Amino acid sequence: MRVTATNDASVRTWAAPGRVNLIGEHLDYNGGPALPFAIDRTTRLKARPRTDGRVRVWSSIAEGSVEFGVDTEPGQVEGWAAYVAGVVWAYARDGHALPGYDLVLDSDVPLGAGLSSSAAVECVVALAVRDLQGLDLGAAQVARLAQTAENDYVGAPTGSMDQLASACSEDGHALLVETRTEPPTLTSVPADWAADGLAVVVVDTRAEHSHATGEYATRRSECEQVAEIIGVEQLALAPPDAVLKVEDPVLKARLRHVMTETTRTRAAVRALRERQWEHLGTLLTASHVSLRDDYQVSCMELDVAVDTALGAGALGARMTGGGFGGSAIALVARDGVDRVVSAVESAFAGARLTAPRTFVVTPGPGAHEVRG
Ligand code: GLA
Repeated sequence: MRVTATNDASVRTWAAPGRVNLIGEHLDYNGGPALPFAIDRTTRLKARPRTDGRVRVWSSIAEGSVEFGVDTEPGQVEGWAAYVAGVVWAYARDGHALPGYDLVLDSDVPLGAGLSSSAAVECVVALAVRDLQGLDLGAAQVARLAQTAENDYVGAPTGSMDQLASACSEDGHALLVETRTEPPTLTSVPADWAADGLAVVVVDTRAEHSHATGEYATRRSECEQVAEIIGVEQLALAPPDAVLKVEDPVLKARLRHVMTETTRTRAAVRALRERQWEHLGTLLTASHVSLRDDYQVSCMELDVAVDTALGAGALGARMTGGGFGGSAIALVARDGVDRVVSAVESAFAGARLTAPRTFVVTPGPGAHEVRG
């Protein structure tokens, strides 16, 4: 049985976006800044309460439905529905007695593309539960519940950026997330490159990435090791001479990325505010080089996308998100978008790579109820 909005007044609808991170990569678990924006692609949820303590969820990406109790525990629900069950669990862990729900998910955020499709699911469910229960929680607290689901139910050791971007972004703005404070400090920064004839193009490389496994967790623990060597709690707050204290060349490179990316991100915030697009582009490209060479989280497909976009006239380009696959972004003059897209498509075909998906994204609103 599908839940439809047309014949049931108790059904309400919410939407939560995916995100692109403009710059500030792998800093959200290091006490540094990140500058994501919510994209104009969302996960939508139709929801109505039940009274039997059960949650039943349907998704446009899967056959049939998944059912679990509001007393679900980590490990009981797996696959796509774990992101839903994790949110229910996070609320229960905070002491909220939930009645149960029927939920229907639908999304145009590409899955596995590094555009935070999972954060969009978590945030849309967290917001719907808040509103259905009439809870007095702000958007950042909704994001925190969503992150708890990701970290402690799904088991992916990610930072706070994705859920904050999905839950707290303002339409037409990027969201500066400063993670040196707890909770993170959030500042909306106008992001209107479109008014100056520019666009941000996403290249979804279709190369697989997964944060629940290996490399992401390895980077986190490398950063913790370096922080201990230097004697700082958060790596992004390391003093300029800290590199001198780290002998291991790999750890030194990780630190170099965190320090230079922190500086670049602050410069990018200024460039965005002052509409210095050439400068912003240069910073994006420098960020990619650092992620590729020092942090070593890029891959061949991402490098091909970035190099080709730059060769075809992009002002700047970089991988976005956790890396090891997923998407790249390019800042491009609007009338150069077709040239960049066809150059990237040809380069992928020439290298016998799976055809990428390309599309323009614009900064949209954070999670919200869809009325009317
Ligand atoms: C993933 C994680 C985020 C962040 C980025 C890298 O998207 O979910 O928390 O760490 O990688 O910046």
